[in-house]
Amino acid sequence: MTPARLLFVNHVSSMSGAEFVLAQVAQAFPGASAFLFEQGPLLAALEAHGLRGIVAKNGAGLGGIKRDKSLVRALPALAKLAGLVREIAGAARAHDVLYANSQKAFLLTALAASIVRRPLVWHLHDILNPEHFGGMQRRLQIGLANRVATRVVVPSGACADAFVEAGGRPEIVAVVPNGVSPPQAAPRPTREALGLPEGPLVGVFSRLAHWKGQHVLLKALHETPGVGAIVVGSALFGEEAYERQLRATVRELGLGDRVTFLGQRNDVMRLMSAVDCVVHPSTLAEPFGLTLVEAMMARTSVVATDAGAAREILDDGRAGQLVTPGDALSLAAALKAFFAAPQDFAQQRDHAALRAAERYSADRMRGDIRALVEQLAAGRSG
Ligand code: GLC
Repeated sequence: MTPARLLFVNHVSSMSGAEFVLAQVAQAFPGASAFLFEQGPLLAALEAHGLRGIVAKNGAGLGGIKRDKSLVRALPALAKLAGLVREIAGAARAHDVLYANSQKAFLLTALAASIVRRPLVWHLHDILNPEHFGGMQRRLQIGLANRVATRVVVPSGACADAFVEAGGRPEIVAVVPNGVSPPQAAPRPTREALGLPEGPLVGVFSRLAHWKGQHVLLKALHETPGVGAIVVGSALFGEEAYERQLRATVRELGLGDRVTFLGQRNDVMRLMSAVDCVVHPSTLAEPFGLTLVEAMMARTSVVATDAGAAREILDDGRAGQLVTPGDALSLAAALKAFFAAPQDFAQQRDHAALRAAERYSADRMRGDIRALVEQLAAGRSG
């Protein structure tokens, strides 16, 4: 059987979680193409994996639309983009299966797919619930998915439940947990080598956005004297105001000598293995949370808010502590418990590392997605 000719479509080209996953998935399809609305690091990563990159002629400016903001508000901009739909449809004709990796990409690819009649996979990286998205947006996305998507791939049971609760057809949903490449076996880097301070140190690793909850960690630090933190990640999708607010909070709470902003980094697992504990403070339901798995693989203890996929990834709290979302005191209590006796969490770290290797490897994810795509392609030719 000749391998399916696959066309990936993603709207942004900067690297946030969904794009990291796409770059991993794409390695299973070296002969595939990728249609992006803009140039950037994702394009370079995909081309390095042997994919043919196609950059939209009509995509200018779309990448700047805030990731979490209403698609409905973005519609006037998108509506002008009939040209973009035509471009996607044009590219799609030379492919067997279309694969949209973001909400905006799905919207336009769904229209293109109905023109060229190709099976369409939607890799949905969001929780389509009312706390994240408005009713209009949910109805639009679910309505399109139900009519046009052959499969909706989601990274967690939490995403699948939200999709079905919003009216999505259960039979098109496939849960394929995200996967991460295990770190190279290497001695733990010293703090000094990484330029990090000595003493109790936690890390938060995520793009800077209000619902990712970095501000809750800052408040928790106020309650845990002596604990420092590194904040890794940057404001990616128009979240600069939030970053300014975080820096102001650091000043107001007098945390200047304990909190270091490191920006976006490519050595996340090294940094994770050098801190004592990784904190995942999202205030809203997290669709997946790659950080959790990276920390588990790095054998570093995890404290995460109990919202969305964290509970399933952390095995109901057996692979990391779960705390109340948005509650700085609950987070502070978990950090105090941890720093009072870090050795008591060794078994939890071992369990977490084993669980991550077994369930959340990039190889497993690629295998699952390849099987799914080949099945759709076979259905089309058969
Ligand atoms: C999005 C989600 C995050 C998930 C990532 C990859 O960024 O917010 O939870 O880990 O996509 O699926």
